[in-house]
Amino acid sequence: MNELIEKINRLKKEKNAVVLAHCYQNAEIDEVADFVGDSLYLSQRARETNADIIVFAGVYFMAQTAKLLSPDKKVLLPRLESGCRMADMIDLEQVKEFKSKHPNIPVVCYINSTAEVKSECDMCCTSSNAIRIVKSMGVKEVLFLPDTYLGKWVERQLGDVKVTTYPGFCPTHLQIKPEDIIKAKEKYPNAKVLAHPECHQEVVKLADYVGSTTGIMKYAIESDEKQFIIATEKGVVDRLQRDYNDKQFFLIKNSVICPNMKWHTLQDICDALEYEQHEINVDEKIAEKAVKCINRMLEASLAAK
Ligand code: 13P
Ligand code: SF4
Repeated sequence: MNELIEKINRLKKEKNAVVLAHCYQNAEIDEVADFVGDSLYLSQRARETNADIIVFAGVYFMAQTAKLLSPDKKVLLPRLESGCRMADMIDLEQVKEFKSKHPNIPVVCYINSTAEVKSECDMCCTSSNAIRIVKSMGVKEVLFLPDTYLGKWVERQLGDVKVTTYPGFCPTHLQIKPEDIIKAKEKYPNAKVLAHPECHQEVVKLADYVGSTTGIMKYAIESDEKQFIIATEKGVVDRLQRDYNDKQFFLIKNSVICPNMKWHTLQDICDALEYEQHEINVDEKIAEKAVKCINRMLEASLAAK
């Protein structure tokens, strides 16, 4: 294991490469990661890096986003199987059809979507900035895709914007049922419930805090409370428990795992670097439109800080 880590670090140096890792990765990946975080944080790091190679330990759309933001860099995805099941619920034709059913309404896409889909949308958002982004658009109505639950959560938080959603969802987060929260609260009555907005609205209603992956981590780290019920992917709990062992973190259900995030191993990262394999490229015409959608988000996100 140590030899493998040393080899990865040597290859990173030789090839001027960085490893970006999403918080849902197996925690061992952090040993070689230059940056670990949620999708907004990682897309900002991808845009700013001076590295020649970006190895993305995340799902396909995240690597594609990195390529869109850093087109001159070589972006590698250690395992090509790692697609996001939500992002795969909508393709270019389906966006066009959704738009034609609701003409002349601005379209917001969750970053969990392909470059092709983004190329047809006006504005991008992540779970950590969705409310700010939709608000910044200053409109009374938006279309939102692919995640219906995130879209409807934004609508409830804003109160004065109609959000018409595409019926996509995250199979991992939808495993969490309101009964799971009720049972966990009975078992740990002093624990705070922290949930990701991809969860079902009946789950979100029972949470003390709703936010992105790093939003949840930040809340737990900064809180004076000692116990937390975590309603999102297992990787978040693994990292919190590893780094803050004076607190207790309870994963809402052992099965809340994104199987596609877990594909990458240290060996895959090493192979990706050594053989420069599984390069992600985006069609130029698609990229030109998709990057505008992402850049609008990054600029609006910075302006709203
Ligand atoms: P974050 O925006 O919180 O990183 O979430 C991405 C994701 O895929 C959640 O399932
Ligand atoms: Fe996609 Fe859900 Fe996995 Fe996130 S947890 S990458 S939304 S399938």
